[in-house]
Amino acid sequence: MIESALPNLRILLGVSGGIAAYKAAELTRRLRDAGADVRVVLTENAARFVTALTFQALSGQPVRGGLWDEAAEAAMGHIELARWAQRILIAPASADLIARLAHGLADDLLTTLCLASTAPLALAPAMNQQMWAHAATQANLGVLRSRGAVVLGPGSGSQACGDFGAGRLLEADAIVAELMALHGGKLLAGTRVLVSAGPTFEDIDPVRYLGNRSSGRMGFAVAQAAAEAGASVQLVAGPVHLPTPAGVARSDVRSAREMHATVMQHVPQCDIFISAAAVGDYRPAEIAAHKLKKTGGALALTLTENPDILAEVAALKKRPFLVGFAAETQNLRTYARAKLERKKLDLIAANRVGGGSGFDAADNELLLLWPDGEEALARGAKLDLARALIARIATLRKADPARAKGAKR
Ligand code: C5P
Repeated sequence: MIESALPNLRILLGVSGGIAAYKAAELTRRLRDAGADVRVVLTENAARFVTALTFQALSGQPVRGGLWDEAAEAAMGHIELARWAQRILIAPASADLIARLAHGLADDLLTTLCLASTAPLALAPAMNQQMWAHAATQANLGVLRSRGAVVLGPGSGSQACGDFGAGRLLEADAIVAELMALHGGKLLAGTRVLVSAGPTFEDIDPVRYLGNRSSGRMGFAVAQAAAEAGASVQLVAGPVHLPTPAGVARSDVRSAREMHATVMQHVPQCDIFISAAAVGDYRPAEIAAHKLKKTGGALALTLTENPDILAEVAALKKRPFLVGFAAETQNLRTYARAKLERKKLDLIAANRVGGGSGFDAADNELLLLWPDGEEALARGAKLDLARALIARIATLRKADPARAKGAKR
């Protein structure tokens, strides 16, 4: 775990009712390990799933439940508690709690504290996938986001109710890492990150090329999230029409070979290489000097293989922490894990493409896989996913300092 990453930060942890409430116990521990002062408030429904005693033992502080506990009010009144909090984190945040917050209700202690506090609010939702997908929930989250609340996750996968989909509470370490990125010490301060993004265009003749549908948005979001996390970021961009994120240095390239040369030039000066570019695997064996003319018959193009940039970086004696992307149309987990192993990566971010997903879209859905774990990130804005990816990279590097320094796998 990341020590003293949230030193003495006064976090009010709200736990609402849902089966994921048991995971808030682990979260309390992780927050304290990170140096935070934690005070826990359970909603009435949360107390049906977990006990105040658990949280009292883990937080080392009395746990609050209702508004009408005279003894607790005498010790620290609810307005005092609202002022005490420097951050409010609600995990798990149920659909009901999200709805009540969106409407400014103050019908129990937790919602009253949220209204009475000026502390930034972060919510880690957990609910059945259908409840998550419901227009009412999404609209309520939109309202909360517009007021500055930050939504962490949710993850996706199998659910306690037997369903499968988006709505799982993020793991405790991911929540802590995201909180750090938002409020605490910068996750990647002092780190040099190289990001490749966008498609490559392989010229056929002076007017035509072979390309792909990558918009570059995921890679640009990753570069932005890394810069926000305090890294110095070098972006190598294929042909895209996107503004450069603030604080990011950018080199523009066109073909896979240009991208290869530029990446190899920057690799020795980086600690982390995130290869988000959709690099063309093949290029025309020859680029015609003049525009090809119609022949009235079939035209055969001979293609030759491009260098695999990521594989080449992975084979270096002193290699950075390596993150690849896998865009697949089927068997996502199996193919991506095979790619992680074959290319000897430290982490792979897999996404399903085709049918309006992945490429060229504003939203995305990522499955993160690393040698001994995985995390499914539910569909969301590419920037939110990029922040979660950066948080995961920081956690993995912290957990394995040898890898962070570029030890070979
Ligand atoms: O094998 P595949 O092309 O699916 O691997 C995808 C990953 O490899 C991505 O991270 C991509 O940026 C990288 N790649 C590369 N050079 C290539 C092809 C892919 O760096 N020629």
